[in-house]
Amino acid sequence: MRSAIAYLLLWLCIFLTKAQEETCTPGDDTCIASPKPNRKLKATFQNLSPYRADVHFDDGRFGNYVATLETNGEKVTIDSFAGHRFFITRHGVREGLVDPSTDEQYFFTVKETNNVDDAVEFTLPSTAAPSKTKCKDRYPVCVNEAERGECTRNPGWMIVNCCKSCDEKEGYGKYLDSKVRCTRERLNATIPAWENGSLDALFTKWATEDKYKPYEPRVISSPNKVYNAQHEGPWIMVFDNFLDDYEINDLMKGANFGDGFQRSTDQGSVIAGSGEKEKKISTHRTSSNAWCRRECEELDGVKRVSDRIEDFTGISQNNYESLQILKYNVGEYYKTHHDSSGGKDNSVSGHRILTFFLYLNNVLEGGETRFTNLDISVEPKRGRALVWPSVLNEDPTMSDLRMYHEARPVTKGIKFAANHWIHQYDSKNENLWGCSGSFA
Ligand SMILES: *[C@@H]1O[C@H](CO)[C@@H](O)[C@H](O)[C@H]1NC(C)=O
Ligand SMILES: *[C@@H]1O[C@H](CO)[C@@H](O)[C@H](O)[C@H]1NC(C)=O
Repeated sequence: MRSAIAYLLLWLCIFLTKAQEETCTPGDDTCIASPKPNRKLKATFQNLSPYRADVHFDDGRFGNYVATLETNGEKVTIDSFAGHRFFITRHGVREGLVDPSTDEQYFFTVKETNNVDDAVEFTLPSTAAPSKTKCKDRYPVCVNEAERGECTRNPGWMIVNCCKSCDEKEGYGKYLDSKVRCTRERLNATIPAWENGSLDALFTKWATEDKYKPYEPRVISSPNKVYNAQHEGPWIMVFDNFLDDYEINDLMKGANFGDGFQRSTDQGSVIAGSGEKEKKISTHRTSSNAWCRRECEELDGVKRVSDRIEDFTGISQNNYESLQILKYNVGEYYKTHHDSSGGKDNSVSGHRILTFFLYLNNVLEGGETRFTNLDISVEPKRGRALVWPSVLNEDPTMSDLRMYHEARPVTKGIKFAANHWIHQYDSKNENLWGCSGSFA
């Protein structure tokens, strides 16, 4: 009897040891060598390809960004665990880098190792490149996302990231080319908000009609200094009593929904025909911003603000970019810039024609909005709206180069603000269909 138990124990020991030692065939990414729980490993990624590359942790859905690898063999080492899987994309966008001989995207699974230093290494080979097949699924979940109707609910993002599935489900493959997808005609964005002369008419209405008096309008600058303007020049107005406490509270609350405040980014150059643009940390803008979307936009106080701006301007909210909420700490600034591009703007939504800039708090010192070509400064004041156009009254297809401005550095305290940028044409459809360049 005793020998029978010993015999069983011996077999159990052999069995357990075997399980511990089980290994995978090299190159088999689906096999995970029985990991020792919670054993930390050091995973090093090296990029030998000619493309800047991003490493993403594969969470089984859309992945989480981990690190960027420059070209010329740059290496990065991260803490990882056996069984973790990573995928590699071109930097700044989610276009996968593939092995050109198989057209398969590179995935790296961290495997148990016997190395004494617990180090595992992955190399992105010099041949790695974006796929020649443009209409691909970037994620395994694309099939399910297409099945539950996401291609029609969220077409821009889905066409670019799940092209194959959206083509099979809705015939949307043809829209991967932004020149086909992103035209004013197709996106029903053909009616401009402003004709020649609309701008003068609007500011005149604000300066004169009783309806606007409770919001305490003041003309800072106007052509021929009409309506007691302090300065002669393009229209600039403030409404000192534009927001109430309830609205400010909801704007501040909504800023923390979703991704919350993030260091401000700029759009880089366009990558390929899909119209994707790289996101870059801004150097001339050191503040943080939060985009007010979804649950934030649903807040009653936030809705009231956007509805009031729609009522004031007579321009549909379809022409507005989402409210952007801004935070400037001491020393932070936004250097001289223009809210629209120079000359004509042939994007679907056209020029940003008007900016509603809302101050959400009193700043102890600094943080003024300064129009650098006009030498006009406006101080932040809780509840105040500052409004200016970015185009010409005589021809709103042309930007007004007098409207360059900066956010002066905050020197004491903190500055919270928000703004709506209003476009000449519909921008909701432009965003929905992924025609403004942001996808990642
Ligand atoms: C444009 O409007 C037409 C007619 O109302 C509609 O059928 C079509 O779906 C719209 N296109 C987009 C992209 O919203
Ligand atoms: C608006 O003014 C511009 C420049 O003066 C002119 O070229 C254009 O034809 C005008 N547009 C309309 C609709 O009157």
